[in-house]
Amino acid sequence: MRGKFISLEGGEGSGKTTAIECIRHWLEAHNIPYVMTREPGGTPLAEEIRQLILSPREEAVNDVTELLLVFAARAQHIAEKIQPALEKGVWVISDRFLDSSYVYQGKARGGNINMLNQLANWVVGDNKPDATLLLDVPVELGQERVIQRQHQDRLDKESLAFHHKVREGFLECARLDPERIKVIDASLSLDLVKTQIEEQLLLLRNVWSGDV
Ligand SMILES: Nc1ncnc2c1ncn2[C@@H]1O[C@H](COP(=O)(O)OP(=O)(O)OP(=O)(O)O)[C@@H](O)[C@H]1O
Ligand SMILES: [Mg+2]
Repeated sequence: MRGKFISLEGGEGSGKTTAIECIRHWLEAHNIPYVMTREPGGTPLAEEIRQLILSPREEAVNDVTELLLVFAARAQHIAEKIQPALEKGVWVISDRFLDSSYVYQGKARGGNINMLNQLANWVVGDNKPDATLLLDVPVELGQERVIQRQHQDRLDKESLAFHHKVREGFLECARLDPERIKVIDASLSLDLVKTQIEEQLLLLRNVWSGDV
């Protein structure tokens, strides 16, 4: 049976990388084979492209360039890692995926949604996540967490208005696709965030095993 594909989405500092560890424990406790991955990146070449995208630089990065680099990395990620794993029955958990493109390159940068749809159809095709956990936090709280973490990339350094568009963009994705995208209140304590994630994983597992 094909593995399940779960993506984690949310703005900077919302807790995606932290949530991944909670999912790892849950998968191990249930003896489910999995691979953890992230976007942009996930393979050596795609990680090199990630560096190109995220490194702070003097030169202005053209919006179309950013969009195409993200999709170039994604094409490699899907072909070399995601699809082969799913076909072997291995679950794939990705820290960010396609929704981030709609939100960052589409909504926040004002990119052409038609073009995004075409790229999504071409590059992603049927390799869409079966479920997405959206970690939602107020922008200011996410920013505080990122500052405490002390490592900031080119997108972390965007304006507050940009990060508000990102949060709104993700919530809009969730409104448009409530079946797939489950919103987690990530402003709560780590324990309560973990509880929400485990609840969602249990629900998904029941749905996927035909229990419900
Ligand atoms: N629920 C929480 N309560 C308090 N602190 C949290 C919570 N979730 C995460 N953190 C802390 O906030 C910081 C950011 O979390 P994390 O790195 O998981 O976010 P992220 O969504 O992966 O961010 P980025 O998009 O920048 O990679 C970390 O230092 C983490 O320990
Ligand atoms: Mg992270």
